[in-house]
Amino acid sequence: MRKAICPGSFDPVTNGHVDIIERSCKLFDRVTVLVLQNPDKNCVFTAEERVELLRVALRHIPNVDVDCFDGLLAEYARNVGACALVKGLRAVTDFEYEFQMALTNKKLNNELETLFMNTDETFMYLSSSVVRQVARLGGDISGFVPANVHDAILKKLKG
Ligand code: PNS
Repeated sequence: MRKAICPGSFDPVTNGHVDIIERSCKLFDRVTVLVLQNPDKNCVFTAEERVELLRVALRHIPNVDVDCFDGLLAEYARNVGACALVKGLRAVTDFEYEFQMALTNKKLNNELETLFMNTDETFMYLSSSVVRQVARLGGDISGFVPANVHDAILKKLKG
């Protein structure tokens, strides 16, 4: 059983994330989408809300589960026996940050490989922060996120 983790802050999950997760699920027997804390980000959605949004957005995929954790990713991976992390890469600007995290995680857990998956060209421009900004300014985000996330963002902004 080959297990992988798709880690991130997912604030919120976008169509670009869903694409990376769907493709990861074709390569591994089991994929856990893991909501983690990024110390550099103040999230709009709570970890529980982000998990619930992911669960609904991914319910068409049979071999995926969603979890959250507030410790070290490398430790979580060791505890669940995952052999790989899959991260989506949009452009070279993502690379330096992702490479640093990959090397750190490898130092912390030598059994853990990080695989970089290129983002589909359709989603090159897309990020959670773009989605939040467009939504805040009243733009249409229906092509950027799953339907349940679209509704949740509008509700959050009204609240
Ligand atoms: O989607 P993001 O915000 O780019 O994901 C970054 C994330 C959450 C994967 C990263 O911050 C993380 O792994 N946080 C958990 C804490 C940890 O393990 N830190 C050491 C890795 S450098």
